[in-house]
Amino acid sequence: MKITIVGTGYVGLVTGTCFAEIGHDVLCVDNDERKIAALRKLQMPIYEDGLEDMVRRNVEAGRLHFTSSIREGTLFAEVIFIAVGTPPGYHGEPNLSYVEQVGREVAAHMDGYRLLVEKSTVPVNTGEQLKRTVTKYLRADVDFDVASNPEFLREGTAIHDAFKPDRIVIGVESERAAKLLREIYEPIIRDSGCEFLTMNIASAELTKHASNSFLATKISFINAVARVCELAGADVEQVAHGMGLDRRIGRSFLRAGVGYGGSCFPKDVDAFVYLADQIGYDFTLLKEVQKINRGQREHILRRIQHELWVVNDKVIAILGLAFKPGTDDIRESPALFFVPHLLKDGARLKLWDPVAAAKFRELHPEPEYLDDILDCARDAELLLILTDWPQIAEIPLDKLRDVMKCPVIIDGRNVLDPATARNAGFTYSSVGRP
Ligand code: UGA
Repeated sequence: MKITIVGTGYVGLVTGTCFAEIGHDVLCVDNDERKIAALRKLQMPIYEDGLEDMVRRNVEAGRLHFTSSIREGTLFAEVIFIAVGTPPGYHGEPNLSYVEQVGREVAAHMDGYRLLVEKSTVPVNTGEQLKRTVTKYLRADVDFDVASNPEFLREGTAIHDAFKPDRIVIGVESERAAKLLREIYEPIIRDSGCEFLTMNIASAELTKHASNSFLATKISFINAVARVCELAGADVEQVAHGMGLDRRIGRSFLRAGVGYGGSCFPKDVDAFVYLADQIGYDFTLLKEVQKINRGQREHILRRIQHELWVVNDKVIAILGLAFKPGTDDIRESPALFFVPHLLKDGARLKLWDPVAAAKFRELHPEPEYLDDILDCARDAELLLILTDWPQIAEIPLDKLRDVMKCPVIIDGRNVLDPATARNAGFTYSSVGRP
């Protein structure tokens, strides 16, 4: 089937490529001509495991194409996915101007029936607004439908998630739209055996908000438990394990740490609080979730300040700049909180990350960036772990201790084993563990 995807950001590019991989003929549109030119040369705008190979394979097979023309995109296919950015506005409300713009531009070029599918994470009732916009800007007398199809991909495992989803959710208003979307997803449903849920548009939009906010709530819950564990001399890992074996609770998203980041949870929780407020509900539970998340970073910063007594002129090594392993995405990453604070306090920073260093350096050129963990830790008076990259767990601790000026580790992701670190001669502290 022919499919157009508007927006070649993270969601658009991964979704489009996966659709091509299952045999559809996909045209990806982006108004950023440089990005399109780069993609045509098979240069990826993001790092995602397995993506580059899959793009190459499908471009070579003639199933994946790129253009900067929205007109071409509109005329290409009956089904048009909108996967443009929805950056946060001043009060946490998402900025929908890109979605609106696509609606206007597509409407102006439609020459027959089109199904416009919102793939970006948008507030409830965006479907309604999109419909109004398209109706207003239509030039031809043609039918169209609007649908919602939220994505649940995780960065770093997006391709796996796309082919093995827990569920596919669509929000539709017509049989025709439901049938088209079912046809698109049929190969994935067949292979993965996942549920295909059809509901109304507002419910689909809310399913996405509620899912991300619930996962963020789980993380903040376990981080709050970790704080209690620290005060009570308990071990949050053991508590989380004991809780997680209850199938009603589940083991996942109970890893205590320096708090959640990324382009989704912080923005989506903000947006859910804002939109609930707009329609008359004060979502105080989620406000606490946000507060606990901020509190984790502040708590660890205080611990660094306490440990060093005077931060000024101290050498601090930071391992991990990406918001999580497996990605070069630094949006809302914990490092973006710690680096400016510690620089302001006069620390001399040495930073390491296997893939996100270049992006981070564009924002913070001042610190020293090292490719090797031991070089990064050399002469440091404190080592701070902010991303659970597997390489960190493999550092030879005796060598690490020898290169550091003072063997002090603050582990914001509970990557190392406390007893092993202490036996190796470190002053070691982590999150919620004695
Ligand atoms: C998240 C959701 O997991 C996806 O289902 C969703 O599609 C996506 O947002 C989105 O809305 O686009 P993602 O942001 O890629 O995916 O990352 P996650 O793996 O969910 O991790 C988010 C943050 O939570 C990371 O900073 C991670 O370190 C943190 N986290 C996760 C914890 O602190 N503890 C945990 O137990 C799990």
